[in-house]
Amino acid sequence: MRQSNSDDAEKLHLDAVKSEEAISQPYAKDDIFIDENSLQDKGMVCVRDNGRRYRINDEFRAIKHKLLNNAFGPGAEVHTNGNLIMVSSANPNEGKTFSAVNLALILSLEKNKSVLLVDADVLKPSVSKTLDIESRAGLIDYLNGDVSSVDSIIYNTTVPNLRIMPSGESHHLSYELLASDKMLGLAQELANRYTDRIVIFDCPPILGVIETISLSKLVGQVVIVVEHNKTKMSLVQRAVSQLDSRLAIGFIVNKSVNTKLSQYGYGYGYGYG
Ligand SMILES: Nc1ncnc2c1ncn2[C@@H]1O[C@H](COP(=O)(O)OP(=O)(O)O)[C@@H](O)[C@H]1O
Ligand SMILES: [Mg+2]
Repeated sequence: MRQSNSDDAEKLHLDAVKSEEAISQPYAKDDIFIDENSLQDKGMVCVRDNGRRYRINDEFRAIKHKLLNNAFGPGAEVHTNGNLIMVSSANPNEGKTFSAVNLALILSLEKNKSVLLVDADVLKPSVSKTLDIESRAGLIDYLNGDVSSVDSIIYNTTVPNLRIMPSGESHHLSYELLASDKMLGLAQELANRYTDRIVIFDCPPILGVIETISLSKLVGQVVIVVEHNKTKMSLVQRAVSQLDSRLAIGFIVNKSVNTKLSQYGYGYGYGYG
């Protein structure tokens, strides 16, 4: 008998908890060091089990279940490349990178899955800055032919199950490269080579960057970050109207202030575009 959705969610949750309890594994010399304490200081998702419970983990865990369902669960039947997830927003500075990094961190706790975080906001790359890691060859270097193998721009990190593809050297045609056939080939390779892998693309905004729409054609899911009390609904609607109707589209309401805790909080809505 098929499990119900809530059973699936519960099992995924238990898997995540088990994984959070896992003993840390040894690292290789070239792994990118991620300073988990500094991430915690910034109020980001905590990947270490230190006996404490974090609200941000709970919030992103809820989002994670929806994404996993579309990538590997029942939703995967209707969403081609559901394991490729684009994070974008209508405008700049709404919290795309903040959300993409938190999603990658929470997904890295999932047992039997690996996460690749791709910095695809090539004109304003900020994954490396947010994670305090030095720049290395990445996506643009591969797309413009300076680097020939995909493997050499995918770096292991000291967070188990988390890999990173940095944006690489900025190029005057960076945006155009995102819409190239080579990018299409790369997306197909990432979607199909490892069936247990989930890929998060931290993308440029949708409005005014036509290449973001090209990128959306390569993925199965889009997460749109909306800055609470700032982004006009009409702009969000305009952004969504440019996306293909086959995509699973979710929304993260970012920077919604919870007055009681006086902290940023998240809300998440979900629907088909
Ligand atoms: N929920 C949040 N809590 C605290 N700071 C946030 C939050 N969301 C975004 N920020 C901060 O706001 C700024 C813009 O966010 P960022 O993720 O870089 O936006 P984008 O990638 O959409 O341009 C950054 O300094 C980031 O650290
Ligand atoms: Mg960004």
